[in-house]
Amino acid sequence: MKVIIVTGGSRGIGAATSKLAADRGYGVCVNYREDAGAANEVVGEITQTGGRALAVQADVSKETDVLGMFEATADELGPPTALVNNAAILGPRIRVENLTGDRIDEVFSVNVKGSFLCAREAVRRMSTRHGGRGGSIVNVSSGASTFGSPDTYVDYAATKGAIDTMTIGLAKEVAEDGIRVNAVRPGFIYTDIHATFGEPDRVDRMARTVPMKRGGQPDEVASAILWLLSEEASYTTGAIVDVSGGT
Ligand SMILES: NC(=O)c1ccc[n+]([C@@H]2O[C@H](COP(=O)([O-])OP(=O)(O)OC[C@H]3O[C@@H](n4cnc5c(N)ncnc54)[C@H](OP(=O)(O)O)[C@@H]3O)[C@@H](O)[C@H]2O)c1
Repeated sequence: MKVIIVTGGSRGIGAATSKLAADRGYGVCVNYREDAGAANEVVGEITQTGGRALAVQADVSKETDVLGMFEATADELGPPTALVNNAAILGPRIRVENLTGDRIDEVFSVNVKGSFLCAREAVRRMSTRHGGRGGSIVNVSSGASTFGSPDTYVDYAATKGAIDTMTIGLAKEVAEDGIRVNAVRPGFIYTDIHATFGEPDRVDRMARTVPMKRGGQPDEVASAILWLLSEEASYTTGAIVDVSGGT
């Protein structure tokens, strides 16, 4: 049985990924931090169509929460065979000279520490070195890692640079252990993240800078994630796939 954990699976790209994964036959752990209503809605949509899903509250930046999430998933759905490290936050638009230590801690804790903690737990369970059956991890990076997001959120962009590097290194580290590790690098995608952090019109505003002249939809990112997770990508590891309309 295929079992997937999607961090931040309750909204945006994570919700689209959770639903597509269920369509492809995965039992889905829909992780969220605060919005239980959104997570339960995704779970409801999956179960109404005959799928298996579980909403699990866990802050990925907290080690005990991550351990609890992996245990709950194994107990309710079975051992995880796939992980999507999707949960991440921005802060409001700011220049580096005005950043506070607390903001840097928060953004790096969720985006980098959270992804490492989840990857560690996934490897411990999936690795053939530890008696597992192998598996697949997809990290959700951002085009910000390549252009740096000056005057906006260089801190966030730097966390995504860390995710790119983690993808490359971890892919090599566990390549012999039955685990593939890849990343997607979305461009400007229509989700709540922009409004949450004070820029509701960001995707429309930036669309003219995109070669395809439009923002992307969460489903378009989810499709790339599910391909990377699947056996169709059986010889692909350490890859970072841009899903960004040509940006
Ligand atoms: N949207 C874009 O244009 C874009 C572009 C490039 C990359 N990305 C990346 O795509 C991923 C998803 O972004 P999105 O736009 O879909 O975001 P979103 O709509 O803001 O959704 C974020 C999700 O992450 C969860 N979350 C936040 N902090 C968490 C934590 N500490 N622990 C567990 N869950 C947490 C949220 O749960 P709650 O609702 O419970 O808080 C929510 O389910 C992120 O990695 C982001 O950096 C997005």
